[in-house]
Amino acid sequence: MRVTCTVNGSPTAADDVWEGESLLFVLRERLGLPGSKNACEQGECGSCTVYLDGVVVCACLVAAGQAQGRDIVTVEGVGDGDTLAAVQRAFLDAGAVQCGFCTPGLIVAADDLLRRVPRPADAEIREALAGNLCRCTGYETILDAVRLASARQAGGVPDGGAG
Ligand code: FES
Ligand code: FES
Repeated sequence: MRVTCTVNGSPTAADDVWEGESLLFVLRERLGLPGSKNACEQGECGSCTVYLDGVVVCACLVAAGQAQGRDIVTVEGVGDGDTLAAVQRAFLDAGAVQCGFCTPGLIVAADDLLRRVPRPADAEIREALAGNLCRCTGYETILDAVRLASARQAGGVPDGGAG
């Protein structure tokens, strides 16, 4: 079947999609967007987190057909072209890009949090990222990155400052 949807702002079509395929497979294997990672394929790790109509989901749990006509934003679309989103810049500056496998999902989840809650408390950050596993257990720098992005958004820390 053919699946048409909007991906990162562009009308997109994927052909020859099998009904059992996941949205994650379509993104990675048919649309050439490898940012969303395939780590567990069971909705357990968050590495495949994307926006679906503005709500974060695990792309591995979304059937390709469910994406028909929907609006999808992947980690490739979180920033603006070559310009990193605030949360991406903060992950770099805080040293939170540790393995590259969990990071894309964490970026999308953190971006979603900061859109909904610009100044989250630590408990809110932990809750928002609870579905995103970091296998190296480097959670402190990830928390630092979200705090830094939040502070920068609020104007408390200049871009480029580490907080
Ligand atoms: S690959 Fe989707 S949650 Fe792990
Ligand atoms: S950032 Fe990927 S294992 Fe920790």
